[in-house]
Amino acid sequence: MQLVQPANHREFSLEHASEVVEEFRGQPSALINALHKLQETFGYIDEAAMPMLAKLFNLSRAEVHGVTSFYHDFRRQKPGRFTIKVCQAEACQAMGSEALTDAIQKHLGCSFHETTADGMFTLEKVYCLGNCACSPNIMVDKQTYGRVTEKSFKTLTSALAAKASGAK
Ligand code: FES
Repeated sequence: MQLVQPANHREFSLEHASEVVEEFRGQPSALINALHKLQETFGYIDEAAMPMLAKLFNLSRAEVHGVTSFYHDFRRQKPGRFTIKVCQAEACQAMGSEALTDAIQKHLGCSFHETTADGMFTLEKVYCLGNCACSPNIMVDKQTYGRVTEKSFKTLTSALAAKASGAK
């Protein structure tokens, strides 16, 4: 079983965020790039970065908020060490993804768009991972796992949590 590396994002600070996006100063069209860079660094876009971005790009805060909320890839909350996406599309549904989803939510103790209490896993939906022949599928960060069962999910998440604990 191939395991992805746990995310190791830096703690957000406005000072560090300003340094991260400084390279985009004077480039009015680079807001999206700056948001990506912030998310890569901290794992999400902290609310406190909004006024700084507005000032840097000479935009209103509402405009920065608008862009951040329009693109669903941008997170507004700190994610877990791993992001798990459970496929909800047709082929996976036909192979039991609904029951698998229920079992996953019960096992993790969280719903979609939430993070486990220990900060380890964030749960998201996805619609087709292009691996329909091996349904039902999940994706952990950028790694796809096919023919997932409740049992294999528990084994996988235990292994990931152990890996993350060892990597602290
Ligand atoms: S429907 Fe789930 S991978 Fe295609």
